[in-house]
Amino acid sequence: MTSKAKTVFFCQECGYESAKWMGQCPGCRSWNSFVEEKIPAAKKKSGTSGHSGERAKPVRLRDISPEEELRQSCGIGELDRVLGGGLVKGSLVLIGGDPGIGKSTLLLQTCRNIAAAGRKVLYISGEESLQQIRMRAARIGEVSDSLYLLSETNLTSIRGIIENEKPDVCIIDSIQTMYSEEISSAPGSVSQVREATGILMQLAKTLSISIFIVGHVTKDGSVAGPRVLEHMVDTVLYFEGERQEAYRILRAVKNRFGSTNEIGVFEMRGDGLMEVPNPSEFMLSGKPQGASGSVVSCSMEGTRPVLLEIQALVVRSNFGIPRRTCAGTDFNRVNLLTAVMERRCGVNLSAHDLYVNIAGGIKMTEPAVDLGIVIALFSAFRDTPISDSLLAFGEVGLSGELRAVPQAEQRVLEAKKLGFEKVIIPMANAKAVAEVRGIKVVPCATLRDALREATE
Ligand code: TYD
Ligand code: MG
Repeated sequence: MTSKAKTVFFCQECGYESAKWMGQCPGCRSWNSFVEEKIPAAKKKSGTSGHSGERAKPVRLRDISPEEELRQSCGIGELDRVLGGGLVKGSLVLIGGDPGIGKSTLLLQTCRNIAAAGRKVLYISGEESLQQIRMRAARIGEVSDSLYLLSETNLTSIRGIIENEKPDVCIIDSIQTMYSEEISSAPGSVSQVREATGILMQLAKTLSISIFIVGHVTKDGSVAGPRVLEHMVDTVLYFEGERQEAYRILRAVKNRFGSTNEIGVFEMRGDGLMEVPNPSEFMLSGKPQGASGSVVSCSMEGTRPVLLEIQALVVRSNFGIPRRTCAGTDFNRVNLLTAVMERRCGVNLSAHDLYVNIAGGIKMTEPAVDLGIVIALFSAFRDTPISDSLLAFGEVGLSGELRAVPQAEQRVLEAKKLGFEKVIIPMANAKAVAEVRGIKVVPCATLRDALREATE
């Protein structure tokens, strides 16, 4: 086939396709993300290049073995949790994250554990040499015999090797380094990563191999980000955290086999990633005693309540327009809360710069932390510390009312478990926690009442 190659422009952020170059992507609104790529006009459709030779046969739904048997543990509890209870056989999992955040480390540890359980694992790296992987492996401990390494970026050979070796689990690190000869654009371009993912998907499904794909999140748009693949894979996990800090959070944003609101918490150590089974304790570990502007609240992360410290700083503004800075929480939500404080509680912050931070770098956007944010701001504004044994949660409404939040009892129990003595909750949740003993529960109907309770 010698049909003329066609050129199209792809957004490297979200994969939006366009016939002409555009400054801003209409799909994801990012600037300067369009890159020209050549695609063959009569491109062979990936997915039809059948290699298994077997004809697909319909199977009766009843005859398919139940899910439990198809899941396998990764040997890392936090990863299993985020995957929805273990790795599903034949699934394609994308792990995205900033370069250097620990994706390769996490997957190498996963490989080690799966191999130690006697299953065959193939780790394909296009980024590191075998010696480099060996060195990394030495840091994380013993490796078993059924872990195989391969340094390769050509998809045709990778496909051949996977078909021959038939591992139970395969890792592709990273998708942006892989290339298929059938596509003329450079590795890392949208068409290359899509083609590669298509081939891997087919391998995963036909051979029942679970495949992990690593995708770097890139800021400069020079290579296609993991977002362009999200629709193609079964599960999308993002590994987040600040590189200079030790904690890492693994979050599911898409999961065909489980819930997407579970998180896994890890700590990066000298000898690899360690699981953090009790994130609340971890999040509160550095909380200052008796400081103003610091209050503890509770957010549900999937099925787990996580206690977190909200910090606020209020300083007199030197400029006409006061600054509002938020880290870890929604900026607009904080603006809304300050408006409610001003209008409904008479706390006027309009001449002050505000800084709100969720300590630990974790992102919390659940409305249940509203009350915590308001109390932190109020405490910072008045420069009065809030008792260290107090916890507060509740959604704040525009009329200054406190609104009910889901799973109030679980949150109160978590507070009790970590030694808190008093918890302020919305009045509407009072019934739900009536059974809880051993912690003083103070239900409040309005924000005004809650602020009085918190500062008395
Ligand atoms: P890596 O897994 O290579 O990141 P990614 O694959 O996401 O690009 O992680 C690299 C960082 O992790 C690097 O800065 C060193 C650090 N690290 C540790 O702190 N301890 C360890 O045991 C390992 C293997 C890495
Ligand atoms: Mg890596």
